[in-house]
Amino acid sequence: MNYLIAPSLLSADMTRLGEEIRAVLEAGADMVHFDVMDNHYVPNLTIGPFICQILAQRFPSLVIDVHLMTNPVDELIIQFAKAGAKRISIHPDATIHLDRSLQLIHQQGCQAGLVLNPATSPECLRWCMHRLDFILVMTVNPGFGGQTLIPEILDKIALIHKQYPKIPICVDGGVTIDNIAHLAHAGATQFVAGWAIFSSENYTNTLAAMRHQLA
Ligand code: DX5
Ligand code: ZN
Repeated sequence: MNYLIAPSLLSADMTRLGEEIRAVLEAGADMVHFDVMDNHYVPNLTIGPFICQILAQRFPSLVIDVHLMTNPVDELIIQFAKAGAKRISIHPDATIHLDRSLQLIHQQGCQAGLVLNPATSPECLRWCMHRLDFILVMTVNPGFGGQTLIPEILDKIALIHKQYPKIPICVDGGVTIDNIAHLAHAGATQFVAGWAIFSSENYTNTLAAMRHQLA
């Protein structure tokens, strides 16, 4: 199984963002997760397309996985695609015309993901599955790094995986060395982890410990 690990920049040392990205890439990260919060869809406010653009210029082969926690999304989809994002995921309740927004992500040359908040029913996947490259299952409520994973969501991951066995399931929020194997067992193959990686002493050891759990 090809598992992907995506450190979430939200927990990186923002005063040294470039070095932090270099360090996690050297430690074996597959991509970086870029959390965009607008103080509207979620209470927090983070970084925008300009930062994405300068990181894409500095790291040309870096896969930047943009998670839009904004409402609306369409204009930012275009801006982030132009800024070098490779994957863009959006929440179904953050756009009036979900099908159109998902098409827009593809038209802009990016992979499209749909994000399900902890209490969002997987039912909404039914009519947009053909537009998706991956599903992002929130294992915490969106808005902040460093939260504790909601264990009940493991059942939801298993349910989605059973219903749609072919589509990659990415999990986001509270992922640690201790729970990553449970998430994989439920059906996740892509793992966003912020606090667990960036608060650790040695990124290489932490990523190796995660991969060891997945092996
Ligand atoms: C939460 C964000 C997550 C967050 C994950 O709203 O979407 O990507 O950064 O961070 P940790 O792994 O610290 O929960
Ligand atoms: Zn995220």
